[in-house]
Amino acid sequence: MSRIAYVNGAYRPQREAAVNIEDRGYQFADGVYEVVHVHGGRLIDEELHLARLERSLGEIRLTPPMGRAALRVVLHEVARRNRVTEGLLYIQVTRGVARRDHPFPPASVPPAIVVTIRRIPPYPTDIDRWTARAITHPDQRWARCDIKTVGLLPNVLARQAARERGATEAILIDADGMVTEGAATNFWIVDAEGRLRTRHLDTGILPGCTRTALLALMAEDGITLEERAFSAAELRAAREAFITSATSFVRPVVQIDGGQVGDGTPGPVSRRLFALFARHVRGDLPNAA
Ligand code: PDD
Repeated sequence: MSRIAYVNGAYRPQREAAVNIEDRGYQFADGVYEVVHVHGGRLIDEELHLARLERSLGEIRLTPPMGRAALRVVLHEVARRNRVTEGLLYIQVTRGVARRDHPFPPASVPPAIVVTIRRIPPYPTDIDRWTARAITHPDQRWARCDIKTVGLLPNVLARQAARERGATEAILIDADGMVTEGAATNFWIVDAEGRLRTRHLDTGILPGCTRTALLALMAEDGITLEERAFSAAELRAAREAFITSATSFVRPVVQIDGGQVGDGTPGPVSRRLFALFARHVRGDLPNAA
């Protein structure tokens, strides 16, 4: 079955779908995006993703191509037409097509929107087979990492560096020696004193929807944590580490720069949060969205 993409108002076979060579996303990375996990036909943390998309659009002063209700319909329709119940939806909105010139095009130029979906393997049930290795890497991104922009070149280079060293994720370290986040994930540790920590929100990291959802689940479960930045030195002393994202869920990091984290297997906090998030994804929790 050929894949179907939604492109500017029409559902089209993906291999025939194309964007204009003067699309500002292509020329300037002048656009934003979202990745939404689909499990059992449900869009996980759908409202968080839609709200973040609206925020990203607002921050780059781009009018949403459609309202939230209409976009919800498109997302479900793309999943339905592709018969995907386990997958990843990709939404991209750019500032449309115009003759190449840095300032915004006239308001009459409509934003361009693309929605695609791809299948992914079943949700991981065994945490011991869902571990990852990571490397540390300088954070070479811009000053507004809170906006989910398609300008991902530093992230691409960091992930490639990880791959070339046999790792999945690159943990980004800023100029002050502090951990920001992963190249495409938020990053968490259980520090040497046993405190669960993740960096506070600011313009240095993306406010991950998985992060937001997990914080709410933890509050309901009475699990405490500190939203406070930690250094690369604290990272090396951590007892546990894990990444979160719409594609990683809660994924233990058991090796960093070739050295073991803890005893090299997922620790108790990672296990508890992996299980808690799995219940959220399966819709098993009382106030699941
Ligand atoms: N990445 N930080 C960065 C830099 C990210 O790119 C992502 C997501 C996250 C986690 O956000 P969320 O929990 O909302 O997925 C944090 C997506 C999955 C990607 O680019 O493919």
